[in-house]
Amino acid sequence: MNRKVGVLTSGGDAPGMNAAIRSIVRVGRARGLEIIGIRRGFRGILEEDFVPLGPRDVSNIIQRGGTILKTTRCPEFESLEGQHKAKDILEKHGFEGLILIGGDGTFKGGEALGKIWPGQIIGVPGTIDNDLYGTDFTIGFDTAVNTAMEAIDKIRDTADSHERIFLVEVMGRHGGYIAHLVGITGGAEEILVPEEPVDVIAVAERLKEGRARGKRSSILVVAEGIFPGGATKLAEKLRPLTGYELRVVILGYLQRGGSPTAIDRALATKLGAFALELFLSGETGVMAGEVSGRLEATKFPDTWTKKKPLDTYLLGLHRYLTT
Ligand code: F6P
Repeated sequence: MNRKVGVLTSGGDAPGMNAAIRSIVRVGRARGLEIIGIRRGFRGILEEDFVPLGPRDVSNIIQRGGTILKTTRCPEFESLEGQHKAKDILEKHGFEGLILIGGDGTFKGGEALGKIWPGQIIGVPGTIDNDLYGTDFTIGFDTAVNTAMEAIDKIRDTADSHERIFLVEVMGRHGGYIAHLVGITGGAEEILVPEEPVDVIAVAERLKEGRARGKRSSILVVAEGIFPGGATKLAEKLRPLTGYELRVVILGYLQRGGSPTAIDRALATKLGAFALELFLSGETGVMAGEVSGRLEATKFPDTWTKKKPLDTYLLGLHRYLTT
């Protein structure tokens, strides 16, 4: 009897999740495992919404954004009662392992379940936010950054034509990883992130100095989590301080969709397979990740308690690149 392993996607969807599912199904079959898809994240466990997945079920999905298993955020699973219900269902169906594709909220659920269920639980970092310690990049981050960068290139055309200043808000929940990389690669004059306090008066002064130096248009990349209201609130603060026409563009959910880049497809394929290797070697309560080119397992709590370092060298260049 093949060992039964469930796979689910949870939290915000991310381009590349399907590539990870495809890898888990096809490599899992090759390693003699029975892979069972669980629909809509942890809710699928509670609703016993299972679908056996074979090689044909994951045909033609590597290029698709989103997740064929659907995803949700499941408040019921956050309760001990919900976790015990899940444990009983997993035992009733004979699951020996779970592969969780998601972000920090997903792994917090996995950590709680692991305290009461004896099966093995392995995480795969699937979130555009890239805010997980233990992997240089999370699945979906590269695609989201490219989507946002291409949007900024388009905004730059109209900003230049109308000689306007644009504030472009990007996702990232409480982190600035997307904003940092998009700000540099999009050539933004300002990059505003939750990791650094926003000095609105200083930003206004720099905008005025730039205009005095002949800059007729500017792009400010703003992480959604800088403060409540994000870029919209920032524009409200800047208008009276500068007297400039400020336009706000919120990229929002555009960053969650689209066909995954080659980098995300490769990362998803690798980490999906590595998660199975960790399962087969008896690991549990860990996330599969890639750090400096090496595949590594990181304990779930470290993925959200430890802070992944920002690329300080690249960010240090920003001040020279926007003169
Ligand atoms: O975690 C991914 C993410 O896109 C964040 O960047 C964003 O703040 C959040 O999800 C939005 O959550 P929801 O999809 O539930 O609105």
